Amino acid sequence: MQLKTELTQLLDIEIPIIQGGMAWVATGELAAAVSAAGGLGVIGAGNAPADVIEKEIDKVEKLTDKPFGLNIMLLSPFAEDIVKLALRRNVPVITTGAGNPGKYVKMFQENGSKVIPVIPSVALAKRMERLNVDAVIAEGTEAGGHIGELTTMTLVPQVADAVDIPVIAAGGVADGRGLAAVFSLGAVGAQIGTRFVCSEECIASEQYKKAILQAGDRDAIVTGRSTGHPVRNLKNSLTRELDALEKKCVDPKKIEEIGSGKLREAVIEGNVDHGSVMAGQIAGMIKDIKTVKMILDEITENCIEVLEEKLNLIK
Ligand SMILES: Cc1cc2nc3c(=O)[nH]c(=O)nc-3n(C[C@H](O)[C@H](O)[C@H](O)COP(=O)(O)O)c2cc1C
Repeated sequence: MQLKTELTQLLDIEIPIIQGGMAWVATGELAAAVSAAGGLGVIGAGNAPADVIEKEIDKVEKLTDKPFGLNIMLLSPFAEDIVKLALRRNVPVITTGAGNPGKYVKMFQENGSKVIPVIPSVALAKRMERLNVDAVIAEGTEAGGHIGELTTMTLVPQVADAVDIPVIAAGGVADGRGLAAVFSLGAVGAQIGTRFVCSEECIASEQYKKAILQAGDRDAIVTGRSTGHPVRNLKNSLTRELDALEKKCVDPKKIEEIGSGKLREAVIEGNVDHGSVMAGQIAGMIKDIKTVKMILDEITENCIEVLEEKLNLIK
């Protein structure tokens, strides 16, 4: 049995799951594996320059002919170059974070790409709808990485009521129960990040994956609220240092400086004690490393079971 939704139709994919475009983590290897298995794999451009990201696009296109996406961090110093690259390489789906993609939407769509911004509020979802984007990703505060304030549970139905375009839920989904839940909230699919970090194809260091496997339900905490760019990451000596400085009301610029480059340190170098181990609250539920295909198949099968069980309840 298959899960066909507005999202699978819109993106020409088989499973209504988008893999989050995670900086440093979402390389061509991960994106290709997700797309090949029927979801939408997304390369995370983060703050990387265009030549680096072009190599990731090459990898995906070599490994699969299925649609894939590119996440553009609009605050990146290379954002303009990444936009030009995405246009030149005709990337099928563009997701955007950290900023307003307004001036690029028409350009991408005329080039044949779908544009799907990540949003943390109803106001931004409405603004994006006015820009004629193809869908929005409503990301709750449970998610790993940079976050907003509202939970997935409260944000998704409010956004679904406020806009007429498809809504994809992000934050806290890692199994079939989560996917079934976001369908109930009005979403047409889910964007998943943390679960895919613990996949065989993900290039994150073994230490990073192990930190997620060992995390408990309350270990994914928020730092950097004082900077206006809060981040959810696993508790470690870095989060304790940042927390202590924030309590002393240290200049937010100093906090940003300390946090800069720390994701790379954890993902690539395996320094999970003083690097930033970005992960969502659902980390506590993730207990194994599997292939991307196994993860996607399990989520799909489990979601169908959950939905059938609920239907039986009301018969
Ligand atoms: C390690 C990590 C890095 C991330 N980097 C980005 C990013 O560069 N751009 C972005 O839009 N979202 C980023 N995210 C958020 C994900 O794309 C996704 O929305 C989120 O992980 C979903 O919530 P979950 O972690 O509960 O599955 C990141 C998440 C993680 C865990």
